Amino acid sequence: MKEARQADLFGEMSESPEAQRPVRRKKGSPPVKPSKATVELIHGDFLKRAPAVIADGSIDVIVTSPPYNLNIKYSKYNDDLPRQEYLAWTDRWAAEAKRCLAPQGSLFLNVGVRPREPWGAWEVAEIFRRHFALQNVIHWIKSISIAKADVGDYPGIVDDVTVGHYKPINSNRYVNDQHEYIFHLSHQGNVELDRTAIGVPYQDASNVTRWKSAAGGLHCRGNTWFMPYETINFRDRDRPHPASFPLALPDRCLRLHGVRRIRRVLDPFAGLGTTLVAAARLDLDAVGFDIDEAYLAVARDQLARTGCKVR
Ligand SMILES: C[S@@+](CC[C@H](N)C(=O)[O-])C[C@H]1O[C@@H](n2cnc3c(N)ncnc32)[C@H](O)[C@@H]1O
Repeated sequence: MKEARQADLFGEMSESPEAQRPVRRKKGSPPVKPSKATVELIHGDFLKRAPAVIADGSIDVIVTSPPYNLNIKYSKYNDDLPRQEYLAWTDRWAAEAKRCLAPQGSLFLNVGVRPREPWGAWEVAEIFRRHFALQNVIHWIKSISIAKADVGDYPGIVDDVTVGHYKPINSNRYVNDQHEYIFHLSHQGNVELDRTAIGVPYQDASNVTRWKSAAGGLHCRGNTWFMPYETINFRDRDRPHPASFPLALPDRCLRLHGVRRIRRVLDPFAGLGTTLVAAARLDLDAVGFDIDEAYLAVARDQLARTGCKVR
């Protein structure tokens, strides 16, 4: 199986009209509209730097994926802390994220686990429970198999199908791990969402009139989001980070919160800057932190291609 990839953050993964704005202009295509956003990249530890540079309540949406403590080989970060130390650190950054988040803000927290420690994501969620309400639990589906026999006479499904990428594991105890969590947290659990911004077209148009909420022929996407990585050929060149997420993930989170209500986006653990690129492509100002300058250099390159201002 080819490895999953996110080589070009501007590939097909982003779905909003704004986010689909082409970045590399093809010959004869209309001029590219550069992003109007300003994005700040901060090299350093989120906990140490944020108090001085992020005002209380000034962030409307946080989309992030912290280190999972799964012994992933980052170049500057030790991802193998004693469990209690990791959870104590999680508690500290959750409190700092809470300080930054506006009263009607959303925090989308992506967490994955390894099959032999399946409680890990929920332990992290329990820490966040001290600070936030858990408003939605979304599953990032990386790969799925659908049997024709299960769907019957369904438009477009003519055979058994498996789509997406995953790392197969060799085990007689565990099944392959093909999903991660996205915990949607907010201060009170009452943030109004723009569900149709990431809505799904009704398959059967005759149903549309039955549902009051069917504005524009779209229904709510629900909490299972299929977002595959793209296939890569050369990991170092195409995806120089061990744990980045696809552009579709922050793009969907931002649009679900409601783009018009966002003044500024934050990713405390920016990595290659995927959240920041998604924000820039929606013309949203953003700020990101990472302790690794090499990842931020890639982020800077990707951001430059959106035409946004990078500081
Ligand atoms: C799971 S990765 C984030 C990947 C990112 N979502 C992307 O798509 O590229 C976590 C990142 O957190 C960074 N990191 C670890 N500890 C940090 C800290 N205390 N402050 C800021 N960044 C940190 C690591 O260098 C790593 O790039």
